[in-house]
Amino acid sequence: MSARPTIATAPGAKGKPVTLSTLAEKKALGEPIAMVTAYDYPSAGVAEEAGVDVVLVGDSAAMTVLGYPSTVPVTVEEMLMLAAAVRRGLKTPLMVGDLPFGSYEVSNEQAVATAQRFVKEAGCDAVKLERGGSSIDRAGAIVDAGIPVMGHVGLTPQTATALGGYRSQGRTADRALEVVRDAIGLQEAGCFSIVFEAIPSDVTDLVMPRLEIPVIGIGAGPATDGQVLVFGDLLGIYDGHAARFVKRYADVRAQMVAGVHAFAEDVRARRYPEPDHGYTMAPDERERLKGLLAADRN
Ligand code: KIV
Repeated sequence: MSARPTIATAPGAKGKPVTLSTLAEKKALGEPIAMVTAYDYPSAGVAEEAGVDVVLVGDSAAMTVLGYPSTVPVTVEEMLMLAAAVRRGLKTPLMVGDLPFGSYEVSNEQAVATAQRFVKEAGCDAVKLERGGSSIDRAGAIVDAGIPVMGHVGLTPQTATALGGYRSQGRTADRALEVVRDAIGLQEAGCFSIVFEAIPSDVTDLVMPRLEIPVIGIGAGPATDGQVLVFGDLLGIYDGHAARFVKRYADVRAQMVAGVHAFAEDVRARRYPEPDHGYTMAPDERERLKGLLAADRN
C-alpha cells in the first residue's frame, strides 16, 4: 500500500480533540470552521486525516449511502450503526449524530431518549436536530439532559414536503424572519451551534450579528462561521442530484468505476492474478503432495 500524505497545516490535525470551546474560540478569533459528513469507518478516516473540525453523521446517509429517495425513511438503528462505524475511525474532530425524522418530534422524553442512544451506543459527542418551532423545546430538553445540540434551520430536508420541496428558504422578508426567529430560539434553548441551509446570503448577513454561537453554512453564503458539505457530494461519489451550493473537489466515483472496470477486464483477459499475487509451496512439499494425491486416488 502506498504512503499516506500528511497534511501539516490542517487546523484540526494537531491531534487535540475538537471541543465545543474550540469551536467557540474559532468563532471569537474569526477562524472558519470546516465540517463534513461521514458515514462509515473509511470516510471517518478521511475526515480525520484531512483535519476537519467537525464531522456530522448526517441523515443525508439515507440518500448518499443507503439509496433511499429522501432522508425521511432512515431509522435510528441504521443511523446508530453508521455512527458507531464513524466513531471507530475518528479521534480529533467533534462528532455530531443527526437525529432522524420521527425520532425526536413527539415529546421531550422521546428526544432525550434518542439523543442518549446516539451518545451511549454510538459514541457521538453531540446530536443535531432540524427546524425551529417545537424542535426548540426538544433541543432545550436534550441540552438539559447534558447532551450538546446543534440546530438546523432554513431548508430542513426532513420536512421538505411541507416547505414546498427542496428549495431555498427565506427569500421573502416574512419567511426570512421565521428562519431568523427559529435560529435565535435554538440559540436561546442552549444549542452550541446551528446549521443554516439554503438561505439567501443577505439573510445570513443580517442575522449573523445576533448569533453568539458558531453558525455553519451550506448554501447560506460566505458570512457564516464555517461551512459544511456532504462527503459524497464534495468528492463526487454520490451520483444523485447535486444542489446549487455543492462544489466538487474530486471525481472519486469515476476513479472507482475505472478501477473496478480495469479489474474486470484483467480477469476476463487472464491478466490477473500475476505470479506476484500468489503463494508458493516448497518443491519437495509439492512432490510429496503429488504422491499423497496419487495414493489417495487408489
Ligand atoms: O444530513 C446532512 O448531511 C446534513 C447536512 C447537510 C448539514 O444535515
